[in-house]
Amino acid sequence: MAFTPRVFSGTQPSGDLHLGNYLGAIKRYVEMQKTHECIYCVVDMHAITVWQDPDNLRRATREVAAAYVAAGVDPKKNIVFNQSRVHQHAELAWVFNCVARMGWMNRMTQWKDKTAGKNAEAESLGLFAYPSLMAADILLYKATHVPVGDDQKQHLELTRDIAAKFNNDYAPSLKEQGLDADFFPITAPVIAGPATRVMSLKDASKKMSKSDPAEGARILLMDDADAIAKKIKRATTDPEPLPSEERGLEGRLEANNLVGIFAALSETSKAAVLTQFGGQGWGAFKTALADLAVAKLAPIAAETRHLVADPGSIDAFMADGAARASEIAEQTMSEVRRIVGFLG
Ligand code: TRP
Repeated sequence: MAFTPRVFSGTQPSGDLHLGNYLGAIKRYVEMQKTHECIYCVVDMHAITVWQDPDNLRRATREVAAAYVAAGVDPKKNIVFNQSRVHQHAELAWVFNCVARMGWMNRMTQWKDKTAGKNAEAESLGLFAYPSLMAADILLYKATHVPVGDDQKQHLELTRDIAAKFNNDYAPSLKEQGLDADFFPITAPVIAGPATRVMSLKDASKKMSKSDPAEGARILLMDDADAIAKKIKRATTDPEPLPSEERGLEGRLEANNLVGIFAALSETSKAAVLTQFGGQGWGAFKTALADLAVAKLAPIAAETRHLVADPGSIDAFMADGAARASEIAEQTMSEVRRIVGFLG
């Protein structure tokens, strides 16, 4: 059976949104709504896998939803909602906890990185099970395409493994219930463009991250023009001028990162950026990059501020999105209950 193309993605309302969230995910949400039916979630249940102050979680949930809309996502044409409002996410995640194997979860690099050198015993069970909830988010809507940053690739592979194992384990039941043998789709990650992995401005071997202690390592969506310009000017670079061709970026992590950011923000390729700036020093390039970043981000930040000033309107479009999401979610979940053998 061919699945209707459908896009699902989510962003966590934990910490402040940064350039990595914008280029890796949100900007792409806006592009995909032109061609697909899209469901965009604020994954508050994922956020609490590490401690979140309740007031701050409420604020951050509204801010992420506002940022989606400020960046250009249309909440009427698409579904925008917060995950916890649709209880079927938790319900399907439990079933998937029983499909996924401990060995699969133990191999997740994000779990390994987060617990490396730390006391894994003290982490929440939810953090370990995080990728199973993510698979539930996606498969509840039988989503075929998931725009994410490069760091989420392994979680998408796990989602495919869970879908395949579910389809396989319950093959006889699917048949008995008159359902298609490929009940869950094998979802494709959509990881494309020049900045699928935005790196730290201070250490380009590390991802730009909300938890980096160095403030200057990340550009926040809500940063003002001054802060953006300062962070870019202070970004680590090497002493060589910019190369004229993409090949010249090999082995130059900082240069590759900054050129990638420039290309993504200006919607061109790295090659085109290098045609323009090749041979020049970093000073001129950084000034141009700062101007570009401010031109692209400032209007989104202003609109986000405008939207969060009226929390009632954000809650209203998310409640409406959740109602529409619930219809699809319950359709899938009622089938899943029958497939696994739950009564009622
Ligand atoms: N794990 C994703 C991240 O940290 C967030 C997420 C949760 C997600 N559920 C999802 C992304 C479903 C895509 C689809 O970026």
